Amino acid sequence: MDALEAIRKRRSVRAYTDRPVSDEDLDELLRLALLAPTGSMSQAWSLLVVRDPARRETLADIVIRGGGTYFTTVRPPAEGHTPEQHAEASKAYAQEVLGSYRRVPVWVMGLVVPRNMFPPQERDKEALSDEMSVAFAMENLFVAARAKGLGTVPTVFHWFCEDELRAAFGLPDEVRVPVVTPLGYPTEFPVGLPPRLKAIKRPWRTLVHDDAWGNPRA
Ligand SMILES: Cc1cc2nc3c(=O)[nH]c(=O)nc-3n(C[C@H](O)[C@H](O)[C@H](O)COP(=O)(O)O)c2cc1C
Repeated sequence: MDALEAIRKRRSVRAYTDRPVSDEDLDELLRLALLAPTGSMSQAWSLLVVRDPARRETLADIVIRGGGTYFTTVRPPAEGHTPEQHAEASKAYAQEVLGSYRRVPVWVMGLVVPRNMFPPQERDKEALSDEMSVAFAMENLFVAARAKGLGTVPTVFHWFCEDELRAAFGLPDEVRVPVVTPLGYPTEFPVGLPPRLKAIKRPWRTLVHDDAWGNPRA
């Protein structure tokens, strides 16, 4: 599969088998990820690869519980639900849709490791540059994984259990974890977006402005 096809066919995968990922494939994907552009060539990044079964279980648990909190926080309650019922339903939904994360063979955590190259008063700009660089690296990984028939999904649910994550993986205070992804073989590759998301997908032309803001290519 070439790069253009892999970009077209990449989809967020949330249902995985336990089929192992070979060391060769994993190494190749990590190296491709780290070929991404990096602001100021600072390489303010690391990829934390989680394959140890106990640590995978810990991470899956953090992500699934964080997902429950995300759904409670971001999605509206069903009609008539009390806040407690909404929280319970959200937790159950996260367990149901993300349950296969417990058997995925590999996780990759995209870390920001600040190099502090900008002067102190400009560190917010450096932080943005660092986070964009990690995002570019992860997108390389997502697309390359798709070309190899492997699934991924950019995931931020761990933001809701950050202290636990930091403790579980021994992360120093300055290291940030903008994104993690499972990496494994999907039960099946989603084709196109599910109807709920297709319904809200904006036509690409409305997202392109020609020459100045306010001139979409409608
Ligand atoms: C910044 C960012 C954060 C995301 N966080 C999550 C997440 O925490 N959990 C999840 O299941 N999907 C997450 N996604 C995936 C999006 O839901 C998904 O990309 C979007 O619905 C479009 O579907 P597609 O990736 O199949 O094209 C995230 C995507 C981005 C870009």
